[in-house]
Amino acid sequence: MFNRQDDSADEAFYSTPRMVNHIDDATINEITRFYRETLAPEDELLDLMSSWVSHLPVDVTYRKVTGLGMNLDELNANALLDQVLVHNLNKTPALPFSDASFNAVMIVVSIQYLTRPFEVFKEIQRVLKPGGRCIVAMSHRLFPTKAIFAFQTLAPQDRVQLVKEYMRRGGLSEIEFIDRSPEKADPLWIIQGINS
Ligand SMILES: C[S@@+](CC[C@H](N)C(=O)[O-])C[C@H]1O[C@@H](n2cnc3c(N)ncnc32)[C@H](O)[C@@H]1O
Repeated sequence: MFNRQDDSADEAFYSTPRMVNHIDDATINEITRFYRETLAPEDELLDLMSSWVSHLPVDVTYRKVTGLGMNLDELNANALLDQVLVHNLNKTPALPFSDASFNAVMIVVSIQYLTRPFEVFKEIQRVLKPGGRCIVAMSHRLFPTKAIFAFQTLAPQDRVQLVKEYMRRGGLSEIEFIDRSPEKADPLWIIQGINS
């Protein structure tokens, strides 16, 4: 279930920057709308599995936005990030941040690439402030060789259940599924959990 076709080091696969969008514009706009409703300017944010885009509203300045991903050129091209970090979560699930550092941790269209999700979600809970939230935004596109088999074989509602289980075992609560799929565009399935 957590295996994948290409289990070679992620550093090789992500060595070339991909300055592309992975989902439709309408779906991206909906993520931005959700962030506008959910996040506050005084928040410290962690965009996990980040790239050259974070989908945050460009007219809001957040206290600090950290991006963690696999490709430094992509992260350096992301104008919304105040701090960037290359870090392979499949090799080292431990996050290099102090306890209770962030008001929100976001993962956008990347959850399917985690091979050690339970360890990562324990870490997400650790670095979230009390009352902080984890937001996982999923759709239906993926790099098939790098996505774990669960996300290629399970039906969408079971993938949602799986991510809820990641959050539950990580110690998050008030876990909810929010369907924000725009019409005639890639779906947007959001799972949110709170560190209460
Ligand atoms: C489909 S892209 C999505 C990027 C961005 N979140 C977005 O919304 O466009 C997948 C991202 O997952 C990141 N990623 C994949 N494997 C990773 C790993 N083992 N550790 C950390 N990040 C990883 C890559 O750096 C890449 O930016």
